[in-house]
Amino acid sequence: TQQAERQRVLDELRLSREQLLEVKRRMEEQMSHGLAKETHPRASVKMLPTYVRSTPDGTERGDFLALDLGGTNFRVLLVRVRSGKRRSVEMHNKIYVIPQDLMQGTGEELFDHIVSCIADFMEYMGMKGLSLPLGFTFSFPCQQNKLDQGILLKWTKGFKASGCEGEDVVGLLKDAIHRREEFDLDVVALVNDTVGTMMTCGYEDPLCEVGLIVGTGTNACYMEEMPNVELVEGDEGRMCINMEWGAFGDQGELDDFCTQFDRVVDKHSTNPGKQRYEKMISGMYLGEVVRNVLLDFTSKGLMFRGKLSERLKTRGIFETRFLSQIESDRLALRQVRSILQHLGLTSSTCEDSILVKEVCSVVSRRAAQLCGAGLAAVVDRIRQNRNLTHLRITVGVDGTLYKLHPHFSTIMGNTVRDLAPQCDVTLLQSEDGSGKGAALITAVACRIRDAGQ
Ligand code: BG6
Ligand code: GLC
Repeated sequence: TQQAERQRVLDELRLSREQLLEVKRRMEEQMSHGLAKETHPRASVKMLPTYVRSTPDGTERGDFLALDLGGTNFRVLLVRVRSGKRRSVEMHNKIYVIPQDLMQGTGEELFDHIVSCIADFMEYMGMKGLSLPLGFTFSFPCQQNKLDQGILLKWTKGFKASGCEGEDVVGLLKDAIHRREEFDLDVVALVNDTVGTMMTCGYEDPLCEVGLIVGTGTNACYMEEMPNVELVEGDEGRMCINMEWGAFGDQGELDDFCTQFDRVVDKHSTNPGKQRYEKMISGMYLGEVVRNVLLDFTSKGLMFRGKLSERLKTRGIFETRFLSQIESDRLALRQVRSILQHLGLTSSTCEDSILVKEVCSVVSRRAAQLCGAGLAAVVDRIRQNRNLTHLRITVGVDGTLYKLHPHFSTIMGNTVRDLAPQCDVTLLQSEDGSGKGAALITAVACRIRDAGQ
């Protein structure tokens, strides 16, 4: 029957507990490989040192600029941090648009645009001429040898400006500032958004030692013991590691869980063969997975009366916010239908609406479970690092998919608790973005620098 045929396809997108445990195990393995660079130079999960050695302790202070590039919005921020009894963080920010053609043009154009946004912001805040220390949240994989430098390894998430890969992005930013000849900036820290998020949440909760993003892309960072960080000298204390877990699967580790739909989404992306885990989890891709399932059903005559519309063939029509809306339990079916109509899928029946909702929920459940399995590997590793039978830990989380989706956080939370039963995990949603964390990191770096002078 048609119903059985549909379920057969959807079953490929359903993962068993055993499969999820296997994902967790492989993630654990990749984490060790990534940390042991000498023996495993091609590890898929890069495990990049960040040169951030502690979470916030409340003594951070000062006025800072922060940039936040790589998510849905590009922001410039002024962050005022007070320590002591009046411990607080005050933020002012402005959102700027990065036009699509700049994301894919030349690096010079991209960085000139960023600098012109900074100039506009300084003018807007009435701080023209001031040179404040700056923390740069740059949400892409960077190889760092110190806090204020980082070589872009590879663009992800649809960015592909030329002349940036293999270059130090702090240098690219400084070059653009000098080209403008209007002001100078003291770039103190380059920070991944996961790290910024961990620090933002760590300011409120000292148990926060993991940062997680589930937005346009997905990634995690956590505090690792220094002796395990082979690439950095010294055995004392800990360092935050930017895992770049979106690339998990790039050596085939996820091949036996991938479906035809995942392969098509990958093939038509700007980075085929890369970020395979990210493409099964994050907001930029989930809608495309759903659309490809719907295309398959329609071409087999299993929905939309078998009529393949041009709209359905159009890439990118299913944005994450539609997924989140469609899956909302408060929504009546006729509202699902009106969303479909809004998307231009006009020939839908009531049954089609039920089916679309089911496809969305199967795809997003798989995403949340995969993400939970990865997170279980991270928290269990931290527990084992510390020789504990039981670990209490907080994970700071940010990203539009996590925040807007009605079920993602619950499913992910249940999966982590199920797969890492010896860890007591609290998921703490970040309300302030990564910029605040970047400013806290900048504050500590300035204090150390000034003390050394
Ligand atoms: C924001 C951070 O809060 O979350 C960004 O400040 C980050 O730096 C973002 O990239 C991730 O979410 P999204 O959904 O915008 O990609
Ligand atoms: C991509 C980037 C990574 C970032 C994540 C979330 O995976 O490579 O650096 O943290 O998206 O924004």
